[in-house]
Amino acid sequence: MNYEKKIAIIGSGNIGTAIYRGLISKKLSPGQFFLTRRQSDLLAKYKAEGAQVGSDNNEAVQKSEIIILSVLPSQLKEILFEIKDSLDDSKILISIVTAYSISEIKTFTESKCPVVLAMPNTALSVGESMTCIAADKSDKAAIDITFDYFELVGKVLKIPENLIGGATILAACGVAFFMRYIRAASQGGIQVGFHAGDAQLIVAQTAKGASKLLLTTGNHPETEIDKVTTPMGCTIAGLNEMEHNGMSSALIKGIVASYNELSKLK
Ligand SMILES: NC(=O)c1ccc[n+]([C@@H]2O[C@H](COP(=O)([O-])OP(=O)(O)OC[C@H]3O[C@@H](n4cnc5c(N)ncnc54)[C@H](OP(=O)(O)O)[C@@H]3O)[C@@H](O)[C@H]2O)c1
Repeated sequence: MNYEKKIAIIGSGNIGTAIYRGLISKKLSPGQFFLTRRQSDLLAKYKAEGAQVGSDNNEAVQKSEIIILSVLPSQLKEILFEIKDSLDDSKILISIVTAYSISEIKTFTESKCPVVLAMPNTALSVGESMTCIAADKSDKAAIDITFDYFELVGKVLKIPENLIGGATILAACGVAFFMRYIRAASQGGIQVGFHAGDAQLIVAQTAKGASKLLLTTGNHPETEIDKVTTPMGCTIAGLNEMEHNGMSSALIKGIVASYNELSKLK
């Protein structure tokens, strides 16, 4: 696999620039990218690195083989209308925009090119994204290429399109959920004696280790919990107190509440 395709990122905000950062830290070079946003002066540092930047979405699409759409849902329809005449079937359109389906995007673009939905998270800037991707069966070549590029910056899972909404909550919003756990646990650590920086290091590394245990062994979380909970010990006392206060219930309810918001985003 060579990674030489030219890539346009239409809507180079938080996640768009994270994709750029992640990919250039692997096998791609800044010169392969054309980054756009309306306030293109805010992209000056990427230009200094060698990327092409600007606000002309059609120029970016015409000069690229992969087009990544990373604008807000409310901006998508207008952009697709703007760029549709620059699309053709040699290009791949990858949408990471929440709440728009493949068939809606193909309708707006008059099916001029294959469409892949991708749902990464901001950890792709450090090579640790969880990215879920979906495409029509007829667009197999496009989804395979998308897989290869996103695999450079983390784990990738092909899923049916109807699960993309769930992937948005678990993986993309999930970063914020884990950050809040890390922040809260750090505050607990400060109360029992640690300086803030040390507490955050201990909690973040412990979260990374816990994840790696599951990813490496494939064990169920309760198997790993059982190894830590000595009878009558402090771990089970803490865990039970958290559960009495609704920790698992709060997490499940939060995830479902997030999911229920998806349909209101367009
Ligand atoms: N953040 C995440 O973790 C994450 C993860 C997965 C998916 N997503 C999805 O990715 C999308 C972007 O999210 P974000 O957090 O990166 O939002 P964001 O920071 O607001 O980025 C959107 C970008 O689009 C640009 N834009 C708006 N209109 C444009 C136009 N006509 N032409 C070119 N660029 C335009 C905006 O810049 P200007 O105002 O300067 O044009 C802005 O930089 C959303 O649909 C979100 O649901 C986000």
